[in-house]
Amino acid sequence: MNGTLGGRPWRLADLPLAAKVLLTAFLALVGVGYLVAVANIYFKHREADFDPALTPDDIRAVYHGMEKTITSEAALPSEMLKEVRPGGRMRKHLQKGGDVAVTTLIAWLEQGAKEADFAKAGFAVPGGPSPKDVIRAQCIGCHAPGGDEADIPYAPSTTGEPDYAMVAKMALPPVGRTISETRIVRIDPTSVSELVHITHAHILTIPIFALLVGLLFLLTGLPEKVKLIVGPLPMLAVLADIASWWLARPFEPFVHVIAAAGAVFGATFGLQVLCVFGSLWFGRGSERTA
Ligand code: HEC
Repeated sequence: MNGTLGGRPWRLADLPLAAKVLLTAFLALVGVGYLVAVANIYFKHREADFDPALTPDDIRAVYHGMEKTITSEAALPSEMLKEVRPGGRMRKHLQKGGDVAVTTLIAWLEQGAKEADFAKAGFAVPGGPSPKDVIRAQCIGCHAPGGDEADIPYAPSTTGEPDYAMVAKMALPPVGRTISETRIVRIDPTSVSELVHITHAHILTIPIFALLVGLLFLLTGLPEKVKLIVGPLPMLAVLADIASWWLARPFEPFVHVIAAAGAVFGATFGLQVLCVFGSLWFGRGSERTA
């Protein structure tokens, strides 16, 4: 299909400069718009399956839902953490300091008993004590030379300052040893109302610019056979894509149609944009005998 002008066939290259500039700006906008849409998918969906890479599992999670086995490595609790957790033998001593003391010391131990946080006031509770303050108040009365438990000292004397190096022996988690926890989580697909929202936003917009770019593509000087194949493909891909968003809910294999349709759309739409651009500025005009 080529346009006819005054009964004579014409090509995109014949268009007046104003039309070429107008169409080029349009192509730039929809071309960049498409790239932004892809970036949006990347950022919005890549973590859908709790894995930062964008894979078919992300599409599966969003449109069909899935079960995923998650293995996480957790550090083994330190000796001190075991003793101050509920049921531990030192819990009662810690509780004398109240909830703030409990929260502070446990949070510090669970986060790896770091030296940088040891003397940090308000470490776990705003305005609250540092882990060091808690140990000074609740522990060194016994855990220091002269106390009940002088064998495991946390300070040079029962009235001295807790010393990180002494505390660390009991407080640091065992080096290099972890336990792996495995859980199975069920990831639900996007809700129906959200899917209606996404469908409505796409179904009224994508066909419009796919149509415009497609029609311009049909006006290029490319062979008719190429136009017949590449011309309708972006629109067909959009149709397959949106239909599959819904079909993938009950029928999992449509997840692959979504991925394939996205790829076909990207490739053919990009090709059309480039061909139209090329024809506008570098194409052969029809021989006009003015
Ligand atoms: C009233 C004295 C007393 C207070 C206060 C006290 N402890 Fe103890 N702690 C002991 C005694 C005694 C033992 C030895 C218990 C045993 O072996 O049966 C012990 C043992 C421990 C152990 C186990 C060491 C091991 O591996 O055998 C840790 C860890 C510990 N205390 C931490 C703490 C922390 C942290 C605090 C402050 C919240 C604290 N203790 C407060 C007396 C005390």
